[in-house]
Amino acid sequence: MKLWGGRFRKEENKLMEDFNSSLHVDKRLYAEDITGSIAHVNMLVQCSLLTPKEGEDIVQSLISIREDIENGTLPIEGNYEDIHSFVESNLTHRIGDTAKKLHTARSRNDQVAVDIRLYAKNKALEVVEYIEELQSSLEKKARENNVIMPGYTHLQRAQVVTFQHHLLAYYNMLKRDRQRVLNAIDIMDESPLGCGALAGTTHQINREMTAKELGFKKPVDNFLDGVSDRDYLLELMSSFSILMMHLSRLSEELILWSSQEFRFVTIDDAYSTGSSIMPQKKNPDAAELIRGKTGRVYGSLTSLLTTMKGLPLAYNKDMQEDKEPFFEALDTVQSSLQIMSKMIATMKVNSENMKKAVKEGFLNATEVADYLVSKGVAFRDAHSIVGSIVIYCEDHQKAIEELSLAELKQQSPFIEDDIYEFIEYRNILNKGIKVGLLK
Ligand code: ARG
Repeated sequence: MKLWGGRFRKEENKLMEDFNSSLHVDKRLYAEDITGSIAHVNMLVQCSLLTPKEGEDIVQSLISIREDIENGTLPIEGNYEDIHSFVESNLTHRIGDTAKKLHTARSRNDQVAVDIRLYAKNKALEVVEYIEELQSSLEKKARENNVIMPGYTHLQRAQVVTFQHHLLAYYNMLKRDRQRVLNAIDIMDESPLGCGALAGTTHQINREMTAKELGFKKPVDNFLDGVSDRDYLLELMSSFSILMMHLSRLSEELILWSSQEFRFVTIDDAYSTGSSIMPQKKNPDAAELIRGKTGRVYGSLTSLLTTMKGLPLAYNKDMQEDKEPFFEALDTVQSSLQIMSKMIATMKVNSENMKKAVKEGFLNATEVADYLVSKGVAFRDAHSIVGSIVIYCEDHQKAIEELSLAELKQQSPFIEDDIYEFIEYRNILNKGIKVGLLK
């Protein structure tokens, strides 16, 4: 059963065999493994390294293996070292000796590298689609909710903004996240097939042909590099980590906003859970899990960075440890994006509570200072005058706009009747936030 048994006098130790096997993890790559092999065989035929009949037999059998895996008649299990051994053993079982020619001019080192690149590329494109879905959920919510809300710094009420502007901040973060994933795909879009184990092959093969058939821009420029780097997985996981950091911040806000302290949004029942003891509880678990799972994605990135950092060129078996963290990060990002889209699309926005919150907390204090500047007061002086207006308001339990003109004039003779219009919240918004809004 071993692809490499010839040189060995003894059986592999059973513990070692289990320790070495990656089938339970890399079985995900079966389709890419078969696609890569088909391209390889087609090229071998074109380069007269296989006869057309041999090529046809192998390709047809590879296709039937893929079909059987997909219709459930060929489960990927058993005592195989990895997905490559599994596919090749099954091929031999089906067509006998011809199958033994499949691995001509190829190593598992370039084979696995091409499998992962194909898989990562396709899955990263799915991530791009999920990002776009979340962007449209945010855009739609933003469009429907151009309502006034407090903006915060240090989680203290700061200046007035709109819920639309706030949601669109995340829309813009996601726009860059999407571009980062696309950039990573662009950089990794080269085929390692034909690098062999590390030094190419003495056979006259055609790497351009396989690169083209597999949809890569070109073959890689250096064989040692092609089989021994996983920077493309690291780059994707870095983009995923940044993306998760954004989703985690949004989650944190949803958790705060849905609390009794804020009541700015209501998360739909479908994305919440309850408590086994406290009957009244409705917890924002989906958002908490996204925030929590962000740690896993960072962990996956750190794990592979650490695996790679001390490896001499070229391939080392350590690199088999690339798949688990990558799959983990990928799955987490995909499910988090989907859940977040649904949570945003279904949440209710409690605009009245946002409006109420705007009225408490002196969110127009900066604009009172701006008003004074417009009357000729230096900004630093204006800042200090408004500071004492705020103290006065706190002592008298009033908002600035609730003070009478006489009270305001006591603080500064420059204040006139036109101040009320100047510091009205909607007017502030219309004058202040000029970008980042939906048309
Ligand atoms: N399962 C291996 C991996 O994922 C495939 C490559 C094995 N290469 C080798 N020389 N043993 O990295």
